[in-house]
Amino acid sequence: MVDTETFVPEATAEIEDEIGDANAVIALSGGVDSSVAAALAYESIGDQLTPVYVDTGLMRKGETDQIRETFDYMDSLRIVDAKDRFLEALEGVVDPEKKREIIGEQFIREFEREAKDADADYLVQGTIYPDRIESEGGIKSHHNVGGLPDVVDFDGIVEPVRDLYKDEVREVARHLDLDELVAERMPFPGPGLAVRVIGEVTEEKLEVARDACHVVEEELEEYEPWQALAAVIGKATGVKGDNRVHGWVVSVRSVESRDGMTARAQEIDWETLQRIQSRITGQNENVARVVYDVTHKPPATIEYE
Ligand code: XMP
Repeated sequence: MVDTETFVPEATAEIEDEIGDANAVIALSGGVDSSVAAALAYESIGDQLTPVYVDTGLMRKGETDQIRETFDYMDSLRIVDAKDRFLEALEGVVDPEKKREIIGEQFIREFEREAKDADADYLVQGTIYPDRIESEGGIKSHHNVGGLPDVVDFDGIVEPVRDLYKDEVREVARHLDLDELVAERMPFPGPGLAVRVIGEVTEEKLEVARDACHVVEEELEEYEPWQALAAVIGKATGVKGDNRVHGWVVSVRSVESRDGMTARAQEIDWETLQRIQSRITGQNENVARVVYDVTHKPPATIEYE
């Protein structure tokens, strides 16, 4: 386990050594990794760092407001509303890797503009140890690894938490007094809710997934899952009143894991599952059924795409 007492001063000193008097940018995702990297870098170089948060429209419920609150103390924070541009770029796209690619590219476009505006020579990233391993192994294209460094001609990339596991990053977050919600927040994938809707990304599916994820996170908190989530996985028949309807199928998933590389589906009691079902179908009349995913990783992945 990381020794936060020594880690924080060492990390901030290293950042200052590398960046000196230059400017830097970091893409804040709302997750704990980039939040910690940003907090360390801000502590080290202050407003020479421009933290950029791109609201892709694929974020969790309330995420943008939370970012605004948590990082309010950073005068240089920039929040970019790019929802419409992401949705437009994703229109008609169903292939999972293509979706990731488009999101990655659009993100880069948004970020590039901001980095140029900030006159940044350095890129700070919240890459953690498991990200590097999975990317090197070619398991999946992580949009937070490999893409951004090519954007602008940065003099260097600084990755203050590159050797840490997720639970160690959380330790550091607590040590830095980062908002409890950020420190404890479940991991959330770079491409956001787009990997929690199977097939084309539409505003309607995103809304169902976003609201369902919120319910699941709330209801399953006491199980202390590594990740608890909901995904829109297709359509099926249901009944509303006297009518048969063709509505969304929402899959609920809750897993325990140390680093996301393998995971075990959690056993959830029936009453809780029923409450989740009733809240999800109750809040959105276009949801026809809710199922619970019992598959471990492997053979499944944690996310749906
Ligand atoms: P999977 O679905 O591959 O996910 O079992 C393992 C862990 O990684 C997260 N994940 C991502 N994180 N960019 C990220 O930064 C991505 O493209 C991405 N895809 C999955 C996932 O939420 C889980 O914690």
